[in-house]
Amino acid sequence: MRKNQDLLHLARSAAEAAAGFIRGAKRPSGPDEWGRKSTHDFVTSIDREAEQKIRGVLLGGEPGSSIMGEEFSPEGSVGSGLVWVVDPLDGTTNYLHGYPQYAVSVGALVDGELAVGVVADVDRNVYYHAERGAGAWRGSERLTVSRITEPGVSMIGTGFPFRHPDLMPRYMRQFAGIMRAVSGIRRAGAAALDLVDVALGRFEGFWELNLAPWDVAAGTLIVREAGGIVTDGEGSTNMIKHGSVVAGNSAIHAWLQAIVAEP
Ligand code: IPD
Ligand code: CA
Ligand code: CA
Repeated sequence: MRKNQDLLHLARSAAEAAAGFIRGAKRPSGPDEWGRKSTHDFVTSIDREAEQKIRGVLLGGEPGSSIMGEEFSPEGSVGSGLVWVVDPLDGTTNYLHGYPQYAVSVGALVDGELAVGVVADVDRNVYYHAERGAGAWRGSERLTVSRITEPGVSMIGTGFPFRHPDLMPRYMRQFAGIMRAVSGIRRAGAAALDLVDVALGRFEGFWELNLAPWDVAAGTLIVREAGGIVTDGEGSTNMIKHGSVVAGNSAIHAWLQAIVAEP
């Protein structure tokens, strides 16, 4: 298998191919052109074509690898060998409305361990990357999480459980408690970029109750390599699965995770 640096290079090329495609494509003009996976959950030919471009680059560069991608291969395990975990368009609802917060996310695991991650902020044409043990970066600028440890002066990112009405009462209790304690909560609508915002020190923390592996794979490594902590709501570091996510610098992560763990 190739070195992490080579994998990073490939992940970056794949993210560039998809981001360039999305920027150049004609945005579907209205709901008649949006496909639906379920109520409030949209998918378009743009998501699918972007994933095809990513697959072409990754499988061309690493023919023996496998891909867990949101649109074409969402099943599968990340336990052994080289597995790419891909969200070709994170923040589809934002994209469809022309709200400029959407991303391409490409992570790689080698034998179950996150090895590299790239998140492209598509509209702003900015790339974030991390390689295990070698830091998190925006170009040549190394990223570090916020040093603020007090909830009262913290800004916290979140995502709503809009696909899971059953989670709403629990989420609303968490939301009310956290809102009382912090200086601001933001819901920007693209989980990969929410995690990047933790790595950048813009958000002291972030939580969401139901995310998928492709939402979090690259962003998790970027936060960790920026000195932050990412776990599920119960505090487990085994993150690349469907479920809750809590991220932050170590103080805010501990504070947030204790709230999210409450039944
Ligand atoms: C969604 C976004 C959103 C989060 C959802 C995700 P998608 O990804 O990351 O912020 O709240 O849970 O599914 O569907 O736009 O790729
Ligand atoms: Ca997503
Ligand atoms: Ca997506």
